[in-house]
Amino acid sequence: MRPMDYLTRALLALMLALLLPAAWAGVPNNRAEPAYAEEQTILQAQQDSRAPEPALDNAASGKAHIDRHYIGQYGAREGDVIIQRGGNLWRTWRNGWISSTSGILIILAIIGIALFYFVIGPFARPRESGRRILRYTDFERLIHWSTAISFLLLAFTGLIIFFGKVILMPWMGHGVFSGLAFISKYIHNIFGPIFIICSLIMFFTFIHRNVFTRVDRAWLRRGGGLATHEHVPAGFFNAGEKLWFWLGLTVLGLVMTFSGLILDFTNFNQSRYVIQVANYLHLAGATFYIMAAMGHIYIGTIGTPGTYEGMRHGTVDEEWARQHHELWYEQVKSGEAPMAPPPEPPRVPPRPRPGPAT
Ligand code: HEM
Repeated sequence: MRPMDYLTRALLALMLALLLPAAWAGVPNNRAEPAYAEEQTILQAQQDSRAPEPALDNAASGKAHIDRHYIGQYGAREGDVIIQRGGNLWRTWRNGWISSTSGILIILAIIGIALFYFVIGPFARPRESGRRILRYTDFERLIHWSTAISFLLLAFTGLIIFFGKVILMPWMGHGVFSGLAFISKYIHNIFGPIFIICSLIMFFTFIHRNVFTRVDRAWLRRGGGLATHEHVPAGFFNAGEKLWFWLGLTVLGLVMTFSGLILDFTNFNQSRYVIQVANYLHLAGATFYIMAAMGHIYIGTIGTPGTYEGMRHGTVDEEWARQHHELWYEQVKSGEAPMAPPPEPPRVPPRPRPGPAT
């Protein structure tokens, strides 16, 4: 053998001597603790996945099987759960039939409102009398607009979080969409509690005007004249507005408040199951709230000309009040309800008084 061959063989032998123990150490065996633990976890997970899930009213719900396995292993807090079996079901439902149903309902509401506008048409604009009546005080308008603006911010950012990945990301690209989703999430998280406070103030400001009376039953029976455009008497708020107050602001407001707070403050050790159920409720509530809000915005603007002025400036024309809220109009005329405050006299700066000649 040539000296070069000796050298090559010696180098190969050295390499083998170095590599073999390393390779041996890499082979999974019972003494390699992490590999053993993983294997046991997989076996446990397989076994758990065959066991029936405890019902939601069972205290073990969300903690048993795979979840319990990990809690037991790494700690007792929900934050220590690494794998949660229900998570995959939640993801497939949220991204599957729930998002499709929600999207279809919102699109149907938009089509329904458009059809209503083009087929039945809005109310005719009443002939202006030129006399104004006070409808909302500055405070009432401030609280309405604060609630409305925070609602719109929540609705737009919520829809971006919900549908953005499917609708926006394909044409925006990952980079732009991730920035938008990030901003949306923070706006949503911050405006949630602001919306709750505004809704509460709004509730107590307007509750006394939203008590149902016999007049409302008659208004509902005739559909408020929305389809026929006939004149139907109503008080300060009609039955449709009262329904929006009780079913929208109050019932849906409560659903969004409780589910939203559970989603917003995950630091109270609530289990992932609770958060997932809150997410379903939040999505259902958001869908109905957004649909109803679109109807409210349509009727309050182009559907009933003259209505928006009340919320914009605080006053409405007398003729509008007579046509749409006749009973309230009569109260105003009889002095029971306030008229518009007289316009403020223009501010003329005081003329400088001629002083003594110097
Ligand atoms: C009433 C108006 C509201 C609407 C229309 C609305 C809508 C939505 C929608 C569509 C989502 C997306 C859910 C998903 O993608 O699975 C969402 C998420 C969320 N909402 Fe709301 N929401 C409203 C009010 C609130 C309130 C009042 C709070 C809190 C107090 C809140 C807190 C949250 C949180 C924390 C999330 C999860 C955001 C994230 O992914 O990190 N929401 N909302």
